[in-house]
Amino acid sequence: MSTSGGLKRDKAAFVDLSGWIEALRKAGELQAIDAEVDWDVELGTIIRMAQGKGDGPALLFNNIKDYNRNDTICRQLFTGGQGSYSRLAMMFGLPRETPPRELVKICRTIFQERVAPRVVKTGPVKQNVLKGDDIDLLKFPVPKWNRGDGGRYVLTYAGCVTKDPETDVHNVGIYRGEVAGRDRIPVLMWRAQHWGGHFAKWQAQGKDMPVAYVIGWEPSMGFTGGAPVPRGVSEYDVMGAIRGEPVDLVKCETVDLYVPANAEIVIEGYISGDPASFTPEGPYAEFTGYYAVERTRKPTTRVTCITYRDNPIFRGTVEGALPGSYSENPIMSSVQRSATAWNALESAGVPGITDVWGPPIHAGVNLFVRMNQTYRGQAKQAAMALWGNSAAHVRYKHVWVVDDDIDIHDYAAVDWAFAWRVNAGEGDVLIYPANFGAGLDPSTRRRDRDPLRFGTGKWARVLIDATINLDYEPDPDLDGKRYPPTVAPTEADQAAVRARWAEFGFKK
Ligand SMILES: Cc1cc2nc3c(=O)[nH]c(=O)nc-3n(C[C@H](O)[C@H](O)[C@H](O)COP(=O)(O)O)c2cc1C
Repeated sequence: MSTSGGLKRDKAAFVDLSGWIEALRKAGELQAIDAEVDWDVELGTIIRMAQGKGDGPALLFNNIKDYNRNDTICRQLFTGGQGSYSRLAMMFGLPRETPPRELVKICRTIFQERVAPRVVKTGPVKQNVLKGDDIDLLKFPVPKWNRGDGGRYVLTYAGCVTKDPETDVHNVGIYRGEVAGRDRIPVLMWRAQHWGGHFAKWQAQGKDMPVAYVIGWEPSMGFTGGAPVPRGVSEYDVMGAIRGEPVDLVKCETVDLYVPANAEIVIEGYISGDPASFTPEGPYAEFTGYYAVERTRKPTTRVTCITYRDNPIFRGTVEGALPGSYSENPIMSSVQRSATAWNALESAGVPGITDVWGPPIHAGVNLFVRMNQTYRGQAKQAAMALWGNSAAHVRYKHVWVVDDDIDIHDYAAVDWAFAWRVNAGEGDVLIYPANFGAGLDPSTRRRDRDPLRFGTGKWARVLIDATINLDYEPDPDLDGKRYPPTVAPTEADQAAVRARWAEFGFKK
């Protein structure tokens, strides 16, 4: 038992993916599928139909077509481990019923804690080593997740490990990558993402960038890998903080990088900046809920080694939320993107913030901020602090700021404030054009979605200031307030009616 941010947490170290799966099984959070499932579209379709609005189970596929023979080295695939708030609570060592609002708060605290990893000599991930001609990515059950994908995507939930060549600080991010031959993985890389920053530095030194893709470990890896952990901070330190225990790392075989010793599968390799080495990648069903339809030549991983434990479990996920069907990234993002935004506001010195929430349906692309506004322009200060933070690269496109009487976990409350406290003619809507942003956003013109040319997308960011406008004169007819009272009866009037409630024939 440990304490973070005033909340008591149970041990949250599960050792490996099997330990996490076992914890989910015991909690009734897992559905094992023993019927044969085709890796070709059927598996991904099952996930999208089972995940619901974050209320579906985690899934363990035990019988995958073409990977259910006796000589198959990898027979199982796990997904959805972080597709619900109850499972995120488990990852933090909290009771499963902990509400999202509390998860954001605990996440804020943990993101500011660090537990450094420790290096160990070896671990289960070294039980098997494939090199040279033995390397073949399709020895593992890599699905074609969606009908419209350009191919089979091996990197959908892998922790992509790179390091800054100047500081050796390791970054772990989740980035997509497609199988383009037995030892080639083209990837989508934006220069504004942290591994894109590393890549630029390796290129400047005239060297290929070493990479290690970690497929399958504890939930803290996907959670931090998909989160905008500040540049220069290693996700391994934050994983340690989530677990309350250091991450055990082993050195890779063919690249100078470190990976979790208890991982399922690690793919090692190099990415060259030479355009002649680029290979076609895409389309892919993206986090926006739309396909990114471009198939273009992209930086490509040349795989030098694959290590894996005995009977490894493949880990992957589908991307994209649609009304009624949320995948893991949007559920996770609603917590980590809100927590990161709140921390960014605090470190920028914006006062009075009482809650931050980016709903899962768009993975925190729209962000609601609740504040006690005490001076004119405070909402604009909040928006500018957010947009200047590197975490805003693929999020916080539209920022809503509301007063402290509005519950931002209640869409209707936010919409009510939008309707009655926003006057675009009075400066409540601010547009900040031609910004950096998510290049995958289909509302962005196609020419502006080129990662190689621009390194980012092109967003106009919008602030909806739905706070009561402090630029208005206090009104003497309203006791010096700027807004009239709402129609809600007074507390005293309500108490009097409540006392006679049953008398009026109401049941409760
Ligand atoms: C399942 C999943 C898939 C993702 N795919 C990509 C991707 O293909 N490319 C990308 O730039 N970001 C992708 N992201 C978002 C990044 O992981 C996220 O922006 C993270 O902050 C990147 O790490 P970094 O901040 O260290 O660059 C994905 C996130 C998740 C959870």
